[in-house]
Amino acid sequence: MELPDYVKARARSKDKVLREDYVLDDNLKSIGVGKKYFLKTYGCQMNEHDSENLKAMLEELGFVEVDDYNNADLVLLNTCSIRENAHNKAFGMLGRLKHVKESTNPDLIVGLCGCMAQEEGVVNELMHKYKWVNFVFGTHNIHRLPYILNDALQANKQQIEVLSREGNIIEGIPVKRASNHKAYVNIIYGCDKFCTYCIVPYTRGKQRSRDPKDIVKEVEELVKDGYKEVTLLGQNVNAYGKDFDYTYTMENLLEDVSKTGIPRIFFMTSHPWDFTDGMIDVISKCDNVMPYVHLPVQSGSSRILKLMGRRYTKESYLELFDKIRGRVPRVSISTDIIVGFPGEEEEDFLDTLDLVEHCKYDNAFTFIYSPRENTAAAKLANQVDESVKEERLQRLNSVVNKYFLENNQKLVGEVFPVLVEGVSSKKNELFGYTDTFKLINFEGDSSLIGEIINVKVVEAKTWSLDGEIVK
Ligand code: SAH
Ligand code: SF4
Ligand code: F3S
Repeated sequence: MELPDYVKARARSKDKVLREDYVLDDNLKSIGVGKKYFLKTYGCQMNEHDSENLKAMLEELGFVEVDDYNNADLVLLNTCSIRENAHNKAFGMLGRLKHVKESTNPDLIVGLCGCMAQEEGVVNELMHKYKWVNFVFGTHNIHRLPYILNDALQANKQQIEVLSREGNIIEGIPVKRASNHKAYVNIIYGCDKFCTYCIVPYTRGKQRSRDPKDIVKEVEELVKDGYKEVTLLGQNVNAYGKDFDYTYTMENLLEDVSKTGIPRIFFMTSHPWDFTDGMIDVISKCDNVMPYVHLPVQSGSSRILKLMGRRYTKESYLELFDKIRGRVPRVSISTDIIVGFPGEEEEDFLDTLDLVEHCKYDNAFTFIYSPRENTAAAKLANQVDESVKEERLQRLNSVVNKYFLENNQKLVGEVFPVLVEGVSSKKNELFGYTDTFKLINFEGDSSLIGEIINVKVVEAKTWSLDGEIVK
């Protein structure tokens, strides 16, 4: 049994991160034959991508995926810790699974992994109040799933294996991708920024960049398999390469990935602090690097940004924002904003609204501050009242939504290249994303799925566009 430990999770060792290849023992290859699994994913794209790996590993063991947990022999929850509501959802699901185990399927095997498994408090609760959860493993050892699961099947007692010291980088984990046209590609794991509100540096560990050769090889294979789009993933992609003992940066990586010929490259998330002029040049220069930047600001108050540990001010953020807008033609920019950080006064919030009025974001994810276990901000005394947070969120949303619609209205009549992703819930309509990452619906034949086609915007809505195919 190995339990999470926040002291170890905070430590950033100078040890070199080692690269290992995934291996699966032959004698495990049939432990899932004849059995069904249900996997539920919470959280960000990184978790979604981890789930693509988890699914492929389970299928190598013989398990078959089902979409209803009532029919499953194994249920795995890949969890998220970012805000309280992510926690509540996972614990709510555990409640439903307990009921299934008690009523219809006493042999059900339940596992929990992902970011919540890295939390001391959560694992304590699982050990004492959820003893029926069969196994728990963290974000650093997802490649160990076959082994931990096998132990859980054999031992008949709760198995917990959570590393708090970051693991090695494991290459060659199989992957069952959610799409045949677009793919997530990890480029950097972990985060060293320690923004004071954020639990990610504890749950994902030290910043570790994947070897560029492994990344380029993965994208080359995707190109061969007919993929049209990759999204390069990391909590802070701009820090890519900073942990190498040679000079190779995010700019170099974007250029090398661009040379693979993959038609569309997105990347996320960019921390404003590490965003270089060179990056801006590469985005504007490489045709297959898409003109879309997710640039989380979190707050428009320099005082709050300082308390958040974000390492930029309102002014320096705006300078960067305007530079990107000015130098990348047609660029669209989105953001994340938190309201109600401890000590946020009305004046600070008005600074945020003022920044939003300037930036007129194409999209924004807005959140109420949620205190997270063991983070610096959670220990601050002057927490903001829930009612004040709610009220600020509503005011913020009405401003950001106004600009989504205004920006979209300006696009009516313009033609965009769109990767057709599938059939939308509305009958006969296809949907996809523009090169500027705008969701667009249009009529067309399903044979176009997976193609990049030109679509003209005919109507603007707040969160999407309606278009028609340009022949
Ligand atoms: N690495 C990314 C963000 C990852 S988390 C970055 O630095 O920009 C995604 C978003 O969740 C953050 O941008 C932030 O807006 C929000 N978030 C993180 N911790 C939070 C907390 N404790 N309460 C509310 N929102 C939070
Ligand atoms: Fe969290 Fe900050 Fe790291 Fe983003 S950069 S993951 S907000 S600590
Ligand atoms: Fe959540 Fe972990 Fe992602 S906390 S947002 S799943 S890195």
